[in-house]
Amino acid sequence: MDESGGMEAPVGRLGDVVVSAGDIQAKIAELGAEITRDYEGRAPVLICVLKGASVFLADLARHIDLPIRFDFMAISSYGSATKTSGVVRILKDLDHEIEGQDVIVVEDIIDSGLTLNYLLRYLKARRPATLEVCTLFSKEGRQRAKLNVRYEGFRIGPEFVVGYGLDYQERYRNLAYLAVLEDGRGP
Ligand code: IMP
Ligand code: MG
Repeated sequence: MDESGGMEAPVGRLGDVVVSAGDIQAKIAELGAEITRDYEGRAPVLICVLKGASVFLADLARHIDLPIRFDFMAISSYGSATKTSGVVRILKDLDHEIEGQDVIVVEDIIDSGLTLNYLLRYLKARRPATLEVCTLFSKEGRQRAKLNVRYEGFRIGPEFVVGYGLDYQERYRNLAYLAVLEDGRGP
């Protein structure tokens, strides 16, 4: 049911699969093992940017064999539905201070990188001991901000994609794979 009380109208149409569910899970197991090795003897805080990255966080965390903690931020970026301006408003801040902590920002996708760039500057000001980024997807050649991304799952093309946490108008987050959205608004 939508807001008008009727059946929900279709929102775009799914196109080709970009990354299969099996490939996503295999990559996440690798990323988790890498983080476990790199942070041996430490207890990093994973910071998840809602809502898209929540699916990735849930799977990634279960492949990290360390006493990790979670924290969540919610931000809204000014701009159109499919393009970011880089100006970000914080809707929900961290629950705990990160000063002196090892912080890993868990992201779903980096497109222009402007959102993450803003976020990293904000987090750095809180003086964590270390600050790294783990993103599942990254769009090849689109980054407008220079970012140092330590962990990267897949480089993908410029198409607008949905699934595995990524949405179009709040739909498709529950797909286990990543697919192109046809008939939606492209980048
Ligand atoms: P950026 O600031 O341009 O890097 O945009 C980052 C944010 O835009 C991501 O965290 C996503 O929420 C959203 N985004 C970028 N590309 C896509 C896409 O292809 N599908 C769905 N969301 C996207
Ligand atoms: Mg996002």
